[in-house]
Amino acid sequence: MQKLAIQGGAPLRGEVRISGAKNAALPIMCASLLTADTLHLTNLPDLHDVGTMRKLLLQMGITAEVAPNEITFNGGKVENWEAPYDMVKTMRAAILVLGPLVARFGDAKVSLPGGCAIGSRPVDLHIKGLQAMGAEIAIEHGYIHAKAKRLQGARIFFDIVSVTGTENLMMAAALADGVTVLENAAREPEVVDLADCLRAMGAQISGDGTDTVTITGVKALHGATHRIMPDRIESGTFLVAAAATGGSITLRETRADILETVLEKLSEAGAKIKVEGDSIHLEMSGRPKAINVRTAPHPAFPTDMQAQFMALNCIAEGSAMVVETIFENRFMHVQELRRLGAQIEVEGNTSVVKGVTHLEGATVMATDLRASACLVIAGLVAQGETVIDRIYHLDRGYEHIESKLSQLGANIRRIK
Ligand code: EPZ
Repeated sequence: MQKLAIQGGAPLRGEVRISGAKNAALPIMCASLLTADTLHLTNLPDLHDVGTMRKLLLQMGITAEVAPNEITFNGGKVENWEAPYDMVKTMRAAILVLGPLVARFGDAKVSLPGGCAIGSRPVDLHIKGLQAMGAEIAIEHGYIHAKAKRLQGARIFFDIVSVTGTENLMMAAALADGVTVLENAAREPEVVDLADCLRAMGAQISGDGTDTVTITGVKALHGATHRIMPDRIESGTFLVAAAATGGSITLRETRADILETVLEKLSEAGAKIKVEGDSIHLEMSGRPKAINVRTAPHPAFPTDMQAQFMALNCIAEGSAMVVETIFENRFMHVQELRRLGAQIEVEGNTSVVKGVTHLEGATVMATDLRASACLVIAGLVAQGETVIDRIYHLDRGYEHIESKLSQLGANIRRIK
């Protein structure tokens, strides 16, 4: 089990390049199943989850030419329409092969993803949507078996906003017969990036980025080249780390328009933020002010930034409320932060964080991807050494995080 050791206290200073977005790359890689042609993806992040998704697609018969941060897929010889449990259990996003397989081949056998640390994470909305499009679906021995002669366009209402639910059905609808309207759809920028890629492949999609997406099915999709959008959560994570350590950093190759609520909250905390083209500069002098956050679907405050802001509030001036409305168990980082001296009370989906003047380094354990990022931020500000265990969680979603942080002056090293 690898660990990270961090000596806290150094303010982050300098420049860092933001990688491609994990949550755009994963659905877009599955779009390779929708065509017999070649899909060339650039600006792919070098992440464990991207590797897992590539292996999953390869075992289906997709071919892939791999170059640094690029993959060229070809879907001409997909013969195995199955996503096995041992691959799905480590990465829930594998559910995103379901829509494309049913749409192109009329047959799919995908393991139910099971829960994870932050919640039960059901996929009932994915299944209901495909049934509405005419798929016959049976759930047997932990697998989703889906069959359809040809999917039919349908009007589908999401009673809960679901990011991958929207993405799965958008991909399925791209090859369906007729028009599909997704209502109460997710508006996340990663949904828009997938729609951009599908349009480049010949799909007819409009309304992506709003709560109503309309897809007119076509007979076949052709190949394309697509550059993955920058990762807004990696961007937000580095900005919060700079604010927490009283530093001054510049993010390169990112976008401010997909991070508005996060930038607003950081300004509220006292950070000075300047946006110039694809760069964001943040300067923080003195102690941050405590800021209330309440997670909700985009464009509201992102749940994937909740843990990071909790770390900031731990050493902020004043008290703040952190309300998590998306997942039922996304406060796993609280007990670890308490080990560092944080003062946090949890009541249901609300945490009240009382800022303390300093945290003290300790050994802590990562429980999920964004909780790990929160503990890294806490370790960067704590006095003394913090050792974070189970950092495989971190490697799933952050590309080369310790080298990027070291470049910014952090005293951080990986312990084998
Ligand atoms: C995506 O997960 C992201 N993952 C998550 O990022 C992110 O936290 C989440 O969206 C919310 O923004 C990827 O894009 C690969 P949901 P997803 O379906 O699609 C309930 C990270 O750290 N729901 O939008 O799985 C669900 O239980 C990860 O990068 C159903 O009830 O999330 C949750 O309460 C973590 N039935 C809510 O909807 C369904 O069929 C939102 O989930 C689907 C979802």
